[in-house]
Amino acid sequence: MRKMAAAVGSVATLATEPGEDAFRKLFRFYRQSWPGTADLEGVIDFSAAHAARGTGPGAQKVIKSQLNMSSVSEHNAYRAGLQPVSKWQAYGLKGYPYKEVTKWRPRSLLEKLRWVTVGYHYNWDSKKYSADHYTPFPSDLAFLSEQVAAACGFEDFRAEAGILNYYRLDSTLGIHVDRSELDHSKPLLSFSFGQSAIFLLGGLQRDEAPTAMFMHSGDIMIMSGFSRLLNHAVPRVLPNPEGEGLPHCLEAPLPAVLPRDSMIEPCSMEDWQVCASYLKTARVNMTVRQVLATDQNFPLEPIEDKKRDISTEGFCHPDDQNSEVKRARINPDS
Ligand code: SIN
Repeated sequence: MRKMAAAVGSVATLATEPGEDAFRKLFRFYRQSWPGTADLEGVIDFSAAHAARGTGPGAQKVIKSQLNMSSVSEHNAYRAGLQPVSKWQAYGLKGYPYKEVTKWRPRSLLEKLRWVTVGYHYNWDSKKYSADHYTPFPSDLAFLSEQVAAACGFEDFRAEAGILNYYRLDSTLGIHVDRSELDHSKPLLSFSFGQSAIFLLGGLQRDEAPTAMFMHSGDIMIMSGFSRLLNHAVPRVLPNPEGEGLPHCLEAPLPAVLPRDSMIEPCSMEDWQVCASYLKTARVNMTVRQVLATDQNFPLEPIEDKKRDISTEGFCHPDDQNSEVKRARINPDS
């Protein structure tokens, strides 16, 4: 026995064989070992009380874990032939989490929502709009957009298509250019709500270094002229530094008296609760576009072209990388 112990020794003194990786070396070491013959100090023994307090190198990795005691009744533990729940001990290993504690997982349909289209519905496969995929653009959003566009010198802007992107705190929007609209002389309006984001505005080519800017709740960005076709992206949504809460601009109540021809109408308290609670941990961005120039129609497309586009084109909504710009930024609060 003493001879074997001398042969195996400790991992530190064991020579590495040619081409052997760390895993294989340890495998070989323990395959040759025998209690009392080799250095087993490094083997973690969870059953021993010293596991959490031991001095060996492995013991440094052991951490006490919290169990969901309320999920198992004493009765069910008993039925399963287990020790009383109160006696259970759980340990974990540093660097080896047994559950992804920080990873957010969608639970409800609202949490899974990534995008919504209105007006001419953008086709994510073909990257095109078409006459036959249309629902009337919401009149209140159209009115709002047309006022903003007019203030920026685009009195004849028509809100024809909208894309709402829903961002969770871990969502990103890949680098893209919004070029699917047929008239690029009209601005693209971008409204942001909820949590702030970092917005990157690049150049016409991807190799131009972008300018990073915050996009806060209530900001409206206009991409027009040269900026209409610039590369842009959203690499980060930032959680509220003061903890979960609504941005102040969303806390402001509606005026007590609305004009008779008001385009806005109060929503029910119940609906607002759903929106408010969603926006405490999410960002919604709405881009409004004019698709066609005055008197322009969609071109008739050969069937072949349609087929090719669907199989070869990509996507562009949160978390995806692809194609589409902006310039002046207005914050209605300032
Ligand atoms: C944003 O979320 O601020 C940008 C949305 C877009 O480019 O479509």
